Amino acid sequence: MCRTIMVTGGAGFVGSRLSFELAARGNMVFIVDNLSNSSCDDVPLHKNIHFTHKDVRDSDMDEFISDNNIECIFHLAAVISILESVKYPMATHSNNLDATINLLEAAKKSQRSGKFIFSSSCAVYGQKPDIFIDENEQAEPITPYAIDKYASELYIRYYGMQYGIPYVILRYFNIYGTNKAKITPYSGVIQIFMRNIQDNNDIVIFGSGDQKRDFIHVDDIVKANVLALDSDDMVNDVYNVGSGKSISIKELGDLMKSICSSDVRTVYGPERPGDIKFSGGDMKKIRSFGFTPSIELAEGLKPFFTD
Ligand code: UD1
Repeated sequence: MCRTIMVTGGAGFVGSRLSFELAARGNMVFIVDNLSNSSCDDVPLHKNIHFTHKDVRDSDMDEFISDNNIECIFHLAAVISILESVKYPMATHSNNLDATINLLEAAKKSQRSGKFIFSSSCAVYGQKPDIFIDENEQAEPITPYAIDKYASELYIRYYGMQYGIPYVILRYFNIYGTNKAKITPYSGVIQIFMRNIQDNNDIVIFGSGDQKRDFIHVDDIVKANVLALDSDDMVNDVYNVGSGKSISIKELGDLMKSICSSDVRTVYGPERPGDIKFSGGDMKKIRSFGFTPSIELAEGLKPFFTD
């Protein structure tokens, strides 16, 4: 079934790939992006994609939704760096929570019927023991980024209950994949290590390197979003989206160096404020709807060094 869909943050790393996939499936896709972390060149080209340079916090979002007959909304636009949220909590709060509330209000006013699919984060769980956590685990966010993601989830559930807006909340674990974006201190660890290895510089691990992450390839994240759109049974609930495996940052550095036979050194720096120690997702819930992550980390990393 072809739908009219809005993707906020559709010029971003995940949003651009998701938008292209939705368009290739015959849907009409309206991308809304303020290009704060991307440029026009990042907007995917497809006859079914319409791009509007616009901020999700604009007061006329409801008109935009009505004028374009938007049915379903994927809300991805956000400041994704936890570190940035620690440094600039007001700015990230506006982007990560105010924007969500504005969009929910617009969705309510425009009286559309389709799903509101939200890109949340496993960061909402906070510090947990070294276990694979499921969605019933208590959320205990410990950074402004995670607090805003969790508050967004609560607002989405409220609008679902109060105004009947059907929703899906996807809690992503650490997403990776080749990415043209400029590398900054706020980039993800894989991007930063890749650049250091390519430039023959030391890789720097913050803290002991024993902290663990569950890395999931961006193509698998897109698959989970498409499933969330298509499945009638996946509704009004929250789902982990990860690989179901976790690896320490020390092991990640070794793996990346071994893939390209690099002998750059691994050096250690101070632990980052708000850094989560262990992160790994229990995937039973989303697997029960047919989702299987398809790209192993060692495979998914190879294109970083060949593309
Ligand atoms: C990431 C995401 C965030 C997402 C969250 C899910 C990014 C930029 N942020 O945060 O949007 O919601 O996962 O939990 O992708 N590290 C080093 N050396 C470096 C860079 C990082 O040791 O040069 C370490 C960090 O201290 C951390 C780990 O690598 O322990 C992962 O860091 P990062 O890729 O920034 O991701 P998260 O903080 O987990």
